[in-house]
Amino acid sequence: MSVAIIGGTGIDALAGLEAAGERVCGTPYGAPSGPVEAGSIDDVPVLFLQRHGRPRALPPHRINYRANLWALRELGAAAVVAINAVGGIHEACGPGQLVLPDQLIDYTWGREHTVDEGGDSPLRHVDFTEPYDPALRRALLMAAQEAGIACRDGGVLGVTQGPRLETAAEIRRLRGDGCDLVGMTGMPEAALARELELPYASICMVVNAAPGLDDQPLTLAAMGEVLTREAGAVAALLRAFLTARRRV
Ligand code: HPA
Repeated sequence: MSVAIIGGTGIDALAGLEAAGERVCGTPYGAPSGPVEAGSIDDVPVLFLQRHGRPRALPPHRINYRANLWALRELGAAAVVAINAVGGIHEACGPGQLVLPDQLIDYTWGREHTVDEGGDSPLRHVDFTEPYDPALRRALLMAAQEAGIACRDGGVLGVTQGPRLETAAEIRRLRGDGCDLVGMTGMPEAALARELELPYASICMVVNAAPGLDDQPLTLAAMGEVLTREAGAVAALLRAFLTARRRV
């Protein structure tokens, strides 16, 4: 069984991946964002999928989240670690900070958000009280600590529809709702993983102060610069996590 990594903006490849080849996997929901790269890091089997496609073609609302999760499970994923570029709302979540959220609020709409299609299958209301797998989160946090990588434990991720950024008033509302972070791709990915019984956790890379919270202009170039710096820390964190997994 493998660990699946879902790459977000700025994470197009897995550092240290010994690639064994690309797997193309059809699903009842159509095609995933692209072929899944299979291989290993430090002898731990790994699957990698860039959710926006390579080259990037899929904005957050056009990603086939159902096909992505289904394909990863079909290909043998035992757990999913998602990487998400986000904006920071809480003052402790400034640009450059890595955060492992422990809660989320879903503001998205119109996305295919469930594999429950009704019909003959029994009605299921999956428990989503804790949207991220606690054991997987703990393992990631321990790996970060062991590797000396600063990573904040916990936070509420507000998931917005995009692809535009939020207004200042929307961010004030999110803050009032208790959100610490804002991103566009955290849902329905997390809920689908739960429906498919895949333990799931997210590493959020804060790439900007959320709109209206900073007097700096929000530019893709500035976000890209922070992303490039954080990508190295994420790669080191993943490697430490996978190496620890090999030990158990
Ligand atoms: N808002 C929503 N999504 C994001 C942001 C943001 O400020 N930054 C990166 N992804």
